[in-house]
Amino acid sequence: MSPLPENTLIGMCNPLLDIQTTVEKSFLDKWGLKENDAILCDDKHNDMFTELTRDFSVEYIPGGAAQNSLRVAQWILNNPNRTVFFGAVGKDQYGELLASKAKEAGVNVQYQVNETVKTGTCAALINGTHRSLCAHLAAANTFTQDHLQKEENQKIIEQAKYFYVTGFFITVCPPAILQLASHSAEFNKTFTLNLSAPFISQFFFDKLSEIIPLVDVLFGNEDEAAAFAKANGWETTCVKEVALKAAALPKKSSKPRLVVFTQGPEPVIVVEGDKVTEFPVTRLEKEEIVDTNGAGDAFVGGFLSQFIQGKGIEASVTCGSYAAQEIIKKHGCTVPSVCKYH
Ligand code: AP5
Ligand code: NA
Repeated sequence: MSPLPENTLIGMCNPLLDIQTTVEKSFLDKWGLKENDAILCDDKHNDMFTELTRDFSVEYIPGGAAQNSLRVAQWILNNPNRTVFFGAVGKDQYGELLASKAKEAGVNVQYQVNETVKTGTCAALINGTHRSLCAHLAAANTFTQDHLQKEENQKIIEQAKYFYVTGFFITVCPPAILQLASHSAEFNKTFTLNLSAPFISQFFFDKLSEIIPLVDVLFGNEDEAAAFAKANGWETTCVKEVALKAAALPKKSSKPRLVVFTQGPEPVIVVEGDKVTEFPVTRLEKEEIVDTNGAGDAFVGGFLSQFIQGKGIEASVTCGSYAAQEIIKKHGCTVPSVCKYH
């Protein structure tokens, strides 16, 4: 294998194909979904997917939280293969589509391919300016740590300097997350994690707590911050306070932890050690907002594209906001063909 580019970023998460459509509130009620939420589907949602593809005009869009972020980072970097992605897909058309879209964007995809389980999907149900996500992980849920032990992937991990894993992946393979995070701590690299959704803190807090001491940069939005606070038993939902407390949680290496919480059009809160900074967001006009699906993922992609180049926090946040706004102006987590960011 040829050497990887300098400061390569590895992402690990569920590669999902988003099935996006617009629905009425009554459809969400029928399937027990909230207007603005991200959940894992259970057996009772199988018929929902059938109904969606049968009765609705749906769009198939490459998704999966970290894969979205890497595609966005590549778009900004405009230099292929600065990012590598690990996750599991099925041996089918959806898996091939995901791989081709990711490669087209410049992401070096290293999927674990499951011969018997289908590629995962995520219903992205838009209602007004809200969106409800219901993920059917399928093959994504079958990822095993063996994939990281393969010689070619070991080499990639050894050469990479940055890691980005989503909280979503905690439902799939915590040992693989701990492997990357421990490696990162051992070699003084940078491990970054997203809280991803309130349900991760609510139902997977034990596993999340095992990873937190190894986290150098923690991302999330205000709802995820509140769920994380509650799971920790902190009696506050003030985003700044939660960020300060999260930054101060025990940490394996001596590098201060960075916490980056977005809150839609409200300022981005960044805590480095015990220092809080607020970065205001330029509000988009109502008519510019197409849908906010993928805004958080795009923010992280833009942020990391600068961070891995050693640019400071301010430059990273500025680029994160830029990327998020470009995605908000389009359907799903898709970017314009040309990147005008300098
Ligand atoms: P989704 O949760 O929709 O994407 P997201 O990127 O997290 O977008 P959100 O709308 O939740 O944004 P946020 O609240 O995080 O960010 P914020 O609003 O603070 O998920 C999309 C993907 O998740 C799908 O592709 C799906 O496949 C995947 N997924 C679902 N379940 C999964 C699973 N189990 N495993 C793996 N993948 C899964 O905004 C961030 C920034 O945007 C702000 O800081 C700001 O800069 C900007 N911004 C936001 N609103 C405005 C505004 N009004 N004006 C200007 N700027 C704005
Ligand atoms: Na999010």
